[in-house]
Amino acid sequence: MIEVCGLTKRYGDFTAVNDLSFTVQPGEVMGLVGPNGAGKTTTLRCATGIIPATAGTLRVAGIDLAADPVGAKRLLAFFPDEPRLFDHLTVRQHLAFAAKIYQVPQQEAETHGNALLAELEIADKADQLPGELSRGMKQKLVIACGLLHSPKVMYFDEPLTGLDPLGIRRMKDTIKRLSREGAAIILSSHLLSLLEEVCTHVLIMKQGQRIAVGTLPEVVAQFSNGETGVSLEEVFIRATGGSET
Ligand SMILES: Nc1ncnc2c1ncn2[C@@H]1O[C@H](COP(=O)(O)OP(=O)(O)OP(=O)(O)O)[C@@H](O)[C@H]1O
Ligand SMILES: [Mg+2]
Repeated sequence: MIEVCGLTKRYGDFTAVNDLSFTVQPGEVMGLVGPNGAGKTTTLRCATGIIPATAGTLRVAGIDLAADPVGAKRLLAFFPDEPRLFDHLTVRQHLAFAAKIYQVPQQEAETHGNALLAELEIADKADQLPGELSRGMKQKLVIACGLLHSPKVMYFDEPLTGLDPLGIRRMKDTIKRLSREGAAIILSSHLLSLLEEVCTHVLIMKQGQRIAVGTLPEVVAQFSNGETGVSLEEVFIRATGGSET
């Protein structure tokens, strides 16, 4: 569903992502982890066509992002770490705008939009402007807009920053529901206990390189040295920290 093959991204002379390859199948949730500056956001921006890759092949449900960017983007949703909204559009108008862009029929957009606002608990803010929303509410609105066209492939960059504990739990439930429904999901986060709950797979990056990839138990086992019950946090530290690295 998501195929990243040999992705390299350079900013001038600096290589932010170096020859990265991985796949995510329908129903899988891939946790993307790594220290600050590892290249996670860069990877997500390239994989969703926000910025061009320097090299590599990126496919969404078999559609090559370079050959058919509109066709590929129709199937995906990218939730960036900084919510960006239009100052002069209300919550409801944002949803109507998203529906137009993705050509969601009006009736379906209204029904699905209302359900999303209810699920994300911002239905009472439907007629408010972004300036009247809290940070977490803005994030929820971005999520509602992104889910409106029922994407098959989703990329979340730190989706829980700014959400309250109940919001975090709801977001976890939403992500689990989407994967049960067959979506392929990449979830970048530093909240490793969250990833342990939600992810089927993990990709660990450091300095633009892939350190490990596999199912969550496989990656944990790789860094457990035969011990049992090693947490993903401990795996992260062993995989990315230490003076020898
Ligand atoms: N537009 C840019 N121009 C130049 N360098 C950039 C640009 N964007 C990112 N970088 C560099 O690329 C590297 C990877 O950045 P990136 O934002 O992908 O990291 P990240 O893994 O998402 O980190 P974080 O956990 O802090 O979000 C960093 O060294 C960063 O300084
Ligand atoms: Mg980032």
